[in-house]
Amino acid sequence: MDINILAIESSCDETSAAVVQNGKVLNNIIATQSVHEKYGGVVPELASRAHQQHIVPVVEQALSGANISKKDLKAVAFTQGPGLLGALLVGSSFAKSLSSALKIPLIGVNHMQAHILAHFIEDPKPNFPFLCLTVSGGHTQIVKVNDYLDMEILGETKDDAVGEAFDKIAKIIGLPYPGGPMIDKQAKNGNHQAFQFPETEMPGFNYSFSGIKTAVLYFLQNNSQKNANFVADNLDDICASVQHRLIMTLLQKLKKASKHTGIKEVAIAGGVSANSYLRKMLAETGEELNWNTYIPKFEYCTDNAGMIAMTAHFKYQKQEFLGMDAAPIPRM
Ligand code: KG4
Ligand code: ZN
Repeated sequence: MDINILAIESSCDETSAAVVQNGKVLNNIIATQSVHEKYGGVVPELASRAHQQHIVPVVEQALSGANISKKDLKAVAFTQGPGLLGALLVGSSFAKSLSSALKIPLIGVNHMQAHILAHFIEDPKPNFPFLCLTVSGGHTQIVKVNDYLDMEILGETKDDAVGEAFDKIAKIIGLPYPGGPMIDKQAKNGNHQAFQFPETEMPGFNYSFSGIKTAVLYFLQNNSQKNANFVADNLDDICASVQHRLIMTLLQKLKKASKHTGIKEVAIAGGVSANSYLRKMLAETGEELNWNTYIPKFEYCTDNAGMIAMTAHFKYQKQEFLGMDAAPIPRM
């Protein structure tokens, strides 16, 4: 008998639903919210309302696209956290209602764990134990993955996440939201050695990304006083230099963690793993240090329910279910 699980992701500004059958993700429907663009960042209240509008059509599309009807479902999964409370509530309420109506188990998924397990949706799959650099708008972590549901955080950011640094610096430069992909795009034509930005030294495998944001702000203010067109004249070089600093900082600690643990299976996950320079530099570093590197498909880098479905599959096998009193955990 097929094990079909419906999964819902609603932690931030993407409403997504996916169906996994016996561990194979059949589809992955994502509705992106454009309402936030003009505000230069995600507005939590608008995100909740947009999730409410999108959730029914997105779930219907996920089920019909997979040729699965509700009665064929064996469980329903949702992102329990971390994320925005109002946004998480839409997904969790929907999943709980469906679980109760269909009398099927409810599975709660940790969004960050799911970013890592996105590597098991398609081949090539990493071998345990592996290191995963998990980089998103809210997190920056080096995780040692011992098994599907057994993970240890070796290091993490003590202030801004790297995606947040990309987005905030993009805003300072005057680029539209979301800034990460915009910096990536502009940097392609720039010289990454044009400007030097400082790196904050941190102990162990930890990171700090708030200093570079301030450094960029002062650097641009100083130069704009001398030349009002400084940013426009040097946009590509500024983006390439900022991106180089952020990505090299990420990789230095990852190299240190690999050396320390002796682990040469190395993956990246989360929204920032869509960054073309990170993908290129990880591949180069891997060749140099004899690592096996794992870079997710673009579709599975940023927020999506496919990764929630994959995680739910592993939790279903362990019969890790939640009761009806389950609530979202914004800081999970
Ligand atoms: O994982 P994600 O979709 O949502 C969170 O869980 O936070 O990550 C979103 C983050 C944003 O900060 C966005 O700017 C960043 O990922 N991002 C990128 C790129 N694509 C997305 N950052 C740099 N370069 C990219 N190509
Ligand atoms: Zn995410």
